[in-house]
Amino acid sequence: MILLEKPNFNSNFMQKQMDKDSKKQDYLAIYNPKYDFLGQSYASIYPNLHKYPATMLPQIGLELLKEFKAKKSNLLDPYCGSGSSFVSGLGYGIRYFVGFDLNPLAIMIAKARMTYINSSYLIQQKEKLLRQIESKNELSLDSNPLINITNLDFWIEKNAQQDLHQVFLGGGY
Ligand SMILES: C[S@@+](CC[C@H](N)C(=O)[O-])C[C@H]1O[C@@H](n2cnc3c(N)ncnc32)[C@H](O)[C@@H]1O
Repeated sequence: MILLEKPNFNSNFMQKQMDKDSKKQDYLAIYNPKYDFLGQSYASIYPNLHKYPATMLPQIGLELLKEFKAKKSNLLDPYCGSGSSFVSGLGYGIRYFVGFDLNPLAIMIAKARMTYINSSYLIQQKEKLLRQIESKNELSLDSNPLINITNLDFWIEKNAQQDLHQVFLGGGY
């Protein structure tokens, strides 16, 4: 992974490679294989609940928080996507997160990632949901709570809408 660093910034990166033109630039290019995480996946440190485009490996964020000795107070990610920066923060010891995203699916995934659920309650709800789904062959989308999302078809595929509707009905939302 290549990172950009301001010259004279006092960090402890080990391997620095200044390219020929870097003196003319404001930032130096730094290569540090520590950030490659070869052979690792998202799920190596945290369950990857749902696919989302352009997700960051939370391992990267975690290393950067350590590298820059970030405060363990709170973390704001204004383009949070599915919340990978929050996963990094959680691993680092941060417990207060604020995020924004245009995409309602991103918010849903990020909230699910950051919501603590007691495991016996979760198993209970899963069984309730499966019973609900088995008892309904077809669901109408008329009472779908997702219907309030602007440009719903743009953000969430039809079959995913149907699945989410079942989840909402089953979970009693
Ligand atoms: C590269 S993704 C972030 C992915 C995230 N790091 C993760 O691992 O899931 C960038 C995000 O910015 C969001 N975005 C783009 N423009 C935005 C805007 N103006 N306001 C809020 N979010 C925006 C996109 O919806 C997308 O989820």
